[in-house]
Amino acid sequence: MSKLWGGRFAKETDALVDEFNASLHFDVQLADEDIAGSIAWARGLVGAGVLTPAEADEIVAGLEQVRQELADSSFVFAPGDEDVHTAVERRLTEIVGPVGGKLHTGRSRNDQVATDFRLWVMQAIDQLQAHLADLQNALIASAEANLNLPLPGYTHLQHAQPITWGHWALAHFWPLARDGERLTQARRRTAVLPLGSAALAGTAFPVDREALAETLGLEQISQNSLDAVSDRDFVADFLYAATMIGLHLSRLSEQLVLFSSTEFGFVRLDDGYSTGSSLMPQKKNPDTLELTRGKSGRLIGNLTGLLATLKGLPSTYDKDLQEDKEPVFDAFDTLSLTLPVMAGLLRTLTLRPERMAAQLEPSLLATDLADYLVKKGVPFRQAHHLVGEVVQLAEDEDVPLTELTLAQLQGISDKFGADVTAVFSITASLNNRNVPGGTSAAALQTQLAQAKTAVTPTP
Ligand code: ARG
Repeated sequence: MSKLWGGRFAKETDALVDEFNASLHFDVQLADEDIAGSIAWARGLVGAGVLTPAEADEIVAGLEQVRQELADSSFVFAPGDEDVHTAVERRLTEIVGPVGGKLHTGRSRNDQVATDFRLWVMQAIDQLQAHLADLQNALIASAEANLNLPLPGYTHLQHAQPITWGHWALAHFWPLARDGERLTQARRRTAVLPLGSAALAGTAFPVDREALAETLGLEQISQNSLDAVSDRDFVADFLYAATMIGLHLSRLSEQLVLFSSTEFGFVRLDDGYSTGSSLMPQKKNPDTLELTRGKSGRLIGNLTGLLATLKGLPSTYDKDLQEDKEPVFDAFDTLSLTLPVMAGLLRTLTLRPERMAAQLEPSLLATDLADYLVKKGVPFRQAHHLVGEVVQLAEDEDVPLTELTLAQLQGISDKFGADVTAVFSITASLNNRNVPGGTSAAALQTQLAQAKTAVTPTP
């Protein structure tokens, strides 16, 4: 079996070692980027006086043929194709003959793979941002359709204060907007050209690296060849952004699992986005939400695995770095399915306002009652205590807070007056929170408009 690096070896590698060393089964995904990088390099070698324009044309035509064969699956892999770079160059040389052997002049697989991978991550970010924007729009649509629909808000999963569906849905929009920004930042740090760094010390041929970067759509060139071949910050950035998306989707899922339960019943999942039980005929299970929640675990694993691989590596290339790709491919595949599934689930979700209304009980207004006393001049700390007594009395009497008599309330504080009944209104409570980011109808209109302008831009 002929190897790119076979010259100094007297003996074949062990078959298991070949298998162990090989990365073709996953890095074949980089084929398009590898070919784009090689075409740019061939042109760069003309500028450097290594190839004649005619030789470069031959090589480029050969690479285009390789691209075609890979696209239509007529490409036949050979046993010695240890990775995508080897496979492409081997086939190129079969097609164009010995001139193919000039392509790798002044280049190493170390700067080659770093370049390919960066190009791949950039297009992956573009695709994920399109999915992310679609999900953001689904949340905005859900918020807009029921902007002022009241439901209980929770802390510690206990009734806290009234909120609205629009407020709730937008609470899940903003984290995803930040994720979009994280991906944009990751993309900027990814769009750096390592090519020209060669194995570690820089290429010995005067290739115009700025021109290479421009041809490949990269924003800048790397400044240090040793760093360039080992820098996988962009991989960690990508995986961190992917992980945060996973965490945000997990939180949304968990909340919808609760809301769709028989006990809450605030929402009903569409049949198309739920599954049944093989044994219990009545079941409608939120598998899509549970899987989304579960898959955040593998995204975290992909990130931590990569970080563990990077820790302890010296600068320049070490074979450990071959372990950088599978977590990225897995994170991309995971999110490419999860994001559109979640968008579809939200677009088909049925809200059940009557079930939400049934839970809008008066204790949600306890803070408003304390605020009422504050407006009558009672210091908040004391008002909080007095309303605590009111809550206790209602519990002892086994009546809702709102059904205590004025006399009973005045028994606790003489600051309570007949106007206290105005406090016992969910709408008043919502509208009292008229700060940017609050629950009032006006604040929600503003927030909705802001969300619409904050959707992740897609290319
Ligand atoms: N398959 C390798 C990787 O993914 C390509 C670079 C190999 N470089 C080397 N010096 N062996 O990292």
